[in-house]
Amino acid sequence: MSHRNVLSILTLVGILTACSAKNPEAAQAISGAPETGSGASKTATGAPTASGGGPSAAEVGGRIYNSNCVPCHQQTGAGIPGVYPSMAGSPVVLGDPAELALWVIKGQRPKAMPAGRYSTQMLQFGWMKPADAAALFSYLRSNFGNSAPPVNAAAVAKALGQ
Ligand code: HEC
Repeated sequence: MSHRNVLSILTLVGILTACSAKNPEAAQAISGAPETGSGASKTATGAPTASGGGPSAAEVGGRIYNSNCVPCHQQTGAGIPGVYPSMAGSPVVLGDPAELALWVIKGQRPKAMPAGRYSTQMLQFGWMKPADAAALFSYLRSNFGNSAPPVNAAAVAKALGQ
């Protein structure tokens, strides 16, 4: 291998590393874009402004949904008729947050969910911390056309007996 080839490989690796390190920043810059946009009102997105610059609860909730629930309940939340239930208008999503927490985290079936409707099964998310679960549930309750009050971490912890 010539000296030149080694150099170009090193350069390539350098570029890739730089890109992957920069991506999160780029993504944040994009999501923050409307706030700096010309003439747009500063609350154009209506997103809750998280203090301290960390991801907001809505972002955390959306991220957890996208990486855990989308394969079955779909990006739109509509599920797949007869296979996976919809999150839109779901009595479990909109109902008692304690029952929602017990279902998602412990697989304990709420009364609003009679057994045998689906031949498919849901996974359990026992690893989910109350704060993450609260962000996820708040996300479910304020997306897909749903509008129910947010859930806080203390309520989830209490439901789980923690
Ligand atoms: C492997 C597929 C699968 C995944 C992944 C999955 N679910 Fe489910 N989910 C189901 C199935 C199947 C049901 C219906 C179970 C039943 O009725 O016995 C269900 C039911 C539900 C319900 C009750 C809906 C209703 O109105 O009956 C909620 C709420 C729910 N899931 C939330 C979630 C959340 C939040 C996640 C991600 C953390 C998730 N699910 C991940 C398959 C899945």
